[in-house]
Amino acid sequence: MSLLLDEIALATARLAEAGVESPRADAELIGANIHNVRRNELYSVPDNAFDARFWVDISRREAREPLQHIIGKAYFRYLELEVGPGVFVPRPETEVMTGWAIDRLRDMDVAEPVVIDLGTGSGAIALAIAQEVPRSRVHAVETDPLAFAWADRNITRYVDHYTAGRVLLHDGDLTKRESLDITGPVDLVISNPPYIPVGSIVPPEVAEYDPPRALWSGEDGLDAIRAVEQLARDLLRPGGYVAVEHADVQGAAVYWVFAEENGWRDTRNHKDLARRDRFVTAIWPGLPPLGDGHEHAL
Ligand SMILES: C[S@@+](CC[C@H](N)C(=O)[O-])C[C@H]1O[C@@H](n2cnc3c(N)ncnc32)[C@H](O)[C@@H]1O
Repeated sequence: MSLLLDEIALATARLAEAGVESPRADAELIGANIHNVRRNELYSVPDNAFDARFWVDISRREAREPLQHIIGKAYFRYLELEVGPGVFVPRPETEVMTGWAIDRLRDMDVAEPVVIDLGTGSGAIALAIAQEVPRSRVHAVETDPLAFAWADRNITRYVDHYTAGRVLLHDGDLTKRESLDITGPVDLVISNPPYIPVGSIVPPEVAEYDPPRALWSGEDGLDAIRAVEQLARDLLRPGGYVAVEHADVQGAAVYWVFAEENGWRDTRNHKDLARRDRFVTAIWPGLPPLGDGHEHAL
């Protein structure tokens, strides 16, 4: 066996022992990062190029530091984003919700759709939409100064690549309408807000490395989601969409936040790649439903 294969096998065993969920993938990605190659090119690196820094990084991962902090980047749809201390590492489940939003925006009969990403973190959702929906204009809102700095860095990095200045970063609090210098109407509001009930047990990578403001959201975890609902109804044009991510056990609760009784239409639960409930979408009709005794001015 080659030295590299041996080292990867050993590192995989150590990471598995430490409770890392995808030990082989993480060992290979750490190796690939050190050798500056893609993961699928790792085994073509010559043995004599083996670099001892590999074991330093494997030890960090063994201590449950997130892979993305160790390699300094996270992949999100077609983006490579810079991440590190102070910013939430974007997750694959959020890619699914972002893909849903991109499909809606492409289907819309609107030349230059306007989007708001509430709680942008690294800028992942906002940048992916701007990259994949060429004439969209995306307002990205973030309240945490450290996360804001990471978003700014990623937005600046991609400014000439595909997004051409169409992502505008705002320092604002999604729970305080008056702190937002954004006026509607907008075509789509999207958010992956904090949604973990205070006091829940989370894995060490999350507890120790994701920033607290990205995680906790009141006793039932729904405080920020309720604030997103309020803002979305204020900002959306009639017929505009909202998409909001939640924990896998919150599907029913979030459905009711966006229920028809609250004025929303076509409210739906959606699943992530692991078939767990993951986000809710709805349409803001802007008019009360027909048959409710209100006269519509058409
Ligand atoms: C779960 S993270 C998601 C980050 C990014 N959208 C993603 O999907 O990777 C939630 C983000 O919302 C931000 N946030 C939390 N409360 C906020 C508030 N009241 N106003 C604006 N942003 C907020 C956090 O700082 C964090 O960056």
